[in-house]
Amino acid sequence: MSLFITFEGGEGCGKTVQTRALYRRLTREGIPAVLTHEPGGTVIGEKIARWLKWAHGAGISPLTELLMFDASRAQLVEEFIQPSLKHGKVVICDRFADSTIAYQGYGRGLDLQMVRSINDTAAHGLKPDLTILLDSPAEIGLARKGKGKQDRFHQADIAFHTKVRQGYLKLAAEEPARWLVIDASQSKKEISEIIWGKVRLSLRAHSLRSV
Ligand SMILES: Nc1ncnc2c1ncn2[C@@H]1O[C@H](COP(=O)(O)OP(=O)(O)OP(=O)(O)O)[C@@H](O)[C@H]1O
Ligand SMILES: [Mg+2]
Repeated sequence: MSLFITFEGGEGCGKTVQTRALYRRLTREGIPAVLTHEPGGTVIGEKIARWLKWAHGAGISPLTELLMFDASRAQLVEEFIQPSLKHGKVVICDRFADSTIAYQGYGRGLDLQMVRSINDTAAHGLKPDLTILLDSPAEIGLARKGKGKQDRFHQADIAFHTKVRQGYLKLAAEEPARWLVIDASQSKKEISEIIWGKVRLSLRAHSLRSV
């Protein structure tokens, strides 16, 4: 039974912690699952991701940035996500197309219709069955990440991160059946229990739909 689950939210909101926890939980339950992330997840995608995150001062334009994320996405969908879904796996992806709408659309100000259209092409029309938004004020996530080496997105100002957060909340409100919004200020354990409760329901609903 295949299911495509994506995790979204601003910097440091806990996506990586929670995608890993869900992957471990599914595996423990004997449910075949794979875990991947964006940008990256393939050999070429990781090269693109390095540019996207670390090319400080390269003057990457918002449109170039959009196309780079979608280039990474196209490769990941073709090479990994679609084949995994075809093999009946639960695919967990740490960020997906909604990140691009939130960051390059709402954050950078690119035309939302254009972003959606390029996203759809790159994703071969694939949409997540469930998207989990870990919602928190930008300041909290940025503080959690600390003052270590900062990528291009971490370095953007609070106004940018606040637009991204508002963008995510709009996306979730537009499609409430697909999104689960979680207050990310709760403990890791509390959040992972909420996620597991929802994923169990989705697995059940999905298996009923496909018989
Ligand atoms: N619910 C939580 N409460 C407190 N700290 C947390 C919580 N979830 C994650 N953290 C901590 O916050 C930091 C960032 O978490 P994580 O790397 O999972 O975030 P992320 O959303 O993947 O960040 P990024 O946007 O950089 O990929 C880590 O140090 C992690 O241990
Ligand atoms: Mg992460």
